[in-house]
Amino acid sequence: MEMGPRLIATAVFVVILCSMIVVPCSADEVNNPGNGLHVGFYDRKCPNLEQIVTDVVAKAVERDQKLPAGLIRLFFHDCFVKGCDASILLDATPSDEPVEMQSPASGGIRGIEVIEEIKARLEQECPETVSCADILAFATREAVALSGLPRHQVPAGRRDSRTSRASDVILPSPATPMDEIIDFFSRRNLTPEEMVVLFGAHSIGAVHCNFFDYRLYNFAPGMPQDPSLNPVFAAELAQQCPAPNTLPAEEAKNRVVDLDATPLVLDNHYYTNLMQGRALMQLDQALATDPRTGAEVAKLAIRSDSWARQFVRAIIKMGRINVLTGDAGEIRKNCRNFN
Ligand code: HEM
Repeated sequence: MEMGPRLIATAVFVVILCSMIVVPCSADEVNNPGNGLHVGFYDRKCPNLEQIVTDVVAKAVERDQKLPAGLIRLFFHDCFVKGCDASILLDATPSDEPVEMQSPASGGIRGIEVIEEIKARLEQECPETVSCADILAFATREAVALSGLPRHQVPAGRRDSRTSRASDVILPSPATPMDEIIDFFSRRNLTPEEMVVLFGAHSIGAVHCNFFDYRLYNFAPGMPQDPSLNPVFAAELAQQCPAPNTLPAEEAKNRVVDLDATPLVLDNHYYTNLMQGRALMQLDQALATDPRTGAEVAKLAIRSDSWARQFVRAIIKMGRINVLTGDAGEIRKNCRNFN
């Protein structure tokens, strides 16, 4: 089949563009037609969309510096349960079943108010046009950029789901074996390498003590402490997370520890920490010791630029998981309610 002049012009344009912008990209990444998403989807329908998202997220981060971590985790929870369809944002659905947000696995999810604020602004600017699923993808881009990584282009065109079921939230826990974690990512078309790269998101934000304090006090019969924990680090953690039965229940429940020493900056120190036995969660630590992922961890620990580029690519790919496009789903008027 011959390439038409328009196709050639587009290909040349993409190559030139990719050589100019900071984030390396291939024509496939920028404009993968496979699942109907593309960069510039709202250029004509809602030209101020990206500026509005940028403004609202920047103002919200002035109020709460830790918000970017919340937004990135929100996007992960949306995409990995059923696909990037904003189902995590729904308060109720036509079936009246408990929604994703009501699952215990959604505990600690933050950032929904910012998505609502953006939606409210966009409904004034271009009503019933921009999906909540796309707003989440654009807000995540801002979160990534505000945390120090290159600002990437966001393929868009997602539509919003009308379903959300707590029973669909089957996410691994921090103690899930690596086999299952690898399988969990590969069922979403993400390779073990991409998985290791995405876990680098655990270089920002915080984690509640209850997700890892068993590694300090109650790891296994006859072995109170996880031997893969660096003993100096374990002693530091024990200061921040005393044994749960020594604190009032409410206080024990609310204690959090930053995921690394620079919890506002997305960087590859996460991988250095793993190699020194300084991971909070068991599954993070397992990445460094498992033969299928250890080499990748060691590589990323010494290659900051390479990790940054790969992280941005992997986030774009994560944003393509099981999206609704075309006539599927709907464009919600309010992100917490189906129309
Ligand atoms: C199976 C894989 C994963 C598991 C089991 C997992 C588990 C967790 C847990 C338990 C927390 C702490 C929540 C809390 O205490 O409130 C957390 C935090 C976080 N996770 Fe993951 N995670 C996984 C993968 C990912 C991925 C792929 C990303 C993003 C690409 C991500 C981004 C984050 C971020 C940014 C935080 C900090 C959130 C905050 O400070 O509000 N996680 N994760």
